[in-house]
Amino acid sequence: MPQFVQEDTTGINPPRIDIDAVRAAFPILDQEVKGKPLVYLDSAASSQKPVSVIDAIAEYYRRDHANVHRGVHTLSERATDAYEGARERCRAFLGAAGTTEIVFTRGTTESINLVAASFGETFVKPGDVILVTEMEHHSNIVPWQMLCQRHGATLAVAPMTDAGEMDLEAFDRQLDRQPVLVAITHVSNALGTVNPVAALVRRARDAGAKVLVDGAQAVPHLSVDVKALDCDFYAFSGHKVYAPTGIGVLYGRESLLEAMNPWQGGGEMIREVTFDHTEYNVLPHKFEAGTPNVSGAVGLKAAIDFVDDIGLRNIAAHESDLLRYATAKAAEREWFRVVGQAAAKAGVLSFDIEGAHPNDVGMMLDAEGIAVRAGHHCAMPVMQHFDLPATVRASLGVYNTREEIDKLFASIDKIRDLLV
Ligand code: ALA
Repeated sequence: MPQFVQEDTTGINPPRIDIDAVRAAFPILDQEVKGKPLVYLDSAASSQKPVSVIDAIAEYYRRDHANVHRGVHTLSERATDAYEGARERCRAFLGAAGTTEIVFTRGTTESINLVAASFGETFVKPGDVILVTEMEHHSNIVPWQMLCQRHGATLAVAPMTDAGEMDLEAFDRQLDRQPVLVAITHVSNALGTVNPVAALVRRARDAGAKVLVDGAQAVPHLSVDVKALDCDFYAFSGHKVYAPTGIGVLYGRESLLEAMNPWQGGGEMIREVTFDHTEYNVLPHKFEAGTPNVSGAVGLKAAIDFVDDIGLRNIAAHESDLLRYATAKAAEREWFRVVGQAAAKAGVLSFDIEGAHPNDVGMMLDAEGIAVRAGHHCAMPVMQHFDLPATVRASLGVYNTREEIDKLFASIDKIRDLLV
């Protein structure tokens, strides 16, 4: 058993995370902010990085760095092996059939823009419908809106309920419009809702649509198997799952990626160029113009190794315990409104405190050493649904503890006394 997990010697209880060992792996957590021990509750915005990820990147630059796929020399071969090894790691992590289906991008946003540009150019015609949901992040709305404007298509929206769950009947009614593509989030960044993605994908595919799943907030908390989900595209960002910024993945069904044109031209994505004609490279390189983010891929592989060492099941159990604990504390305070009350949630407690502006609450929590996000969370339509300008969002990672939740609520009580 890896060092981050403790087995129950009786065999009766499930394994438990050794939280001290996990926290010791994150050097950034060991500091004071505003004279108080840092409590980091902003992992949905970006997770912190374990030392194994930091070391893997440093080691790559110390020993192996060169450009990939180009050189005949040893360092280039090592860098290529590291980069392609990371791609294989991502393939296995997502359960994809082959590495041809794993395109490295800058992150979820770029993955979605790639599909909007490339799938859009090839398959979206005037009058077509693209369906999104009301709980999407802006990065799963705006690229589709821009595509619709370019191609004379229509953006349709499947609504959510006041609990922050998908309204399945309304979703089906939108599917009656026969969208060419449905873009849905796996886990809402603003509410924490875990969508029944496999069922939504099945309904959408039965209606003839291709389906893109935004997995940015899911991958750190849940096991994902793209074959079982049967989606056409799945996007995620490395930095939400303990990897560096600037690296992410687009999974795409091979037959679709084959049928799509490249979205950016340049080196890497070509096989032969003349001034009359360019022959494109094979998958996935066709979609990776320019020198790629090799060190980012190395860091992403190390992050997936870290997550696998602990086990997503153990991570999910730990975070669910924290979320239940925080939700119970919230329920003890009648002035504390939890925004997003879905039955299935992961990693996020979004809230509003009667009489206190979220930005003030966020800044006052920072004065207590507690990092949260306050704002619209790049999901303004979600705020519009709840008629709120913003919420405060505490979001969880594998390194958080019940003691940190206690500190959050003790500070909120203090802030409320001052503000209200
Ligand atoms: N999408 C990130 C968030 O939810 C930035 O905070």
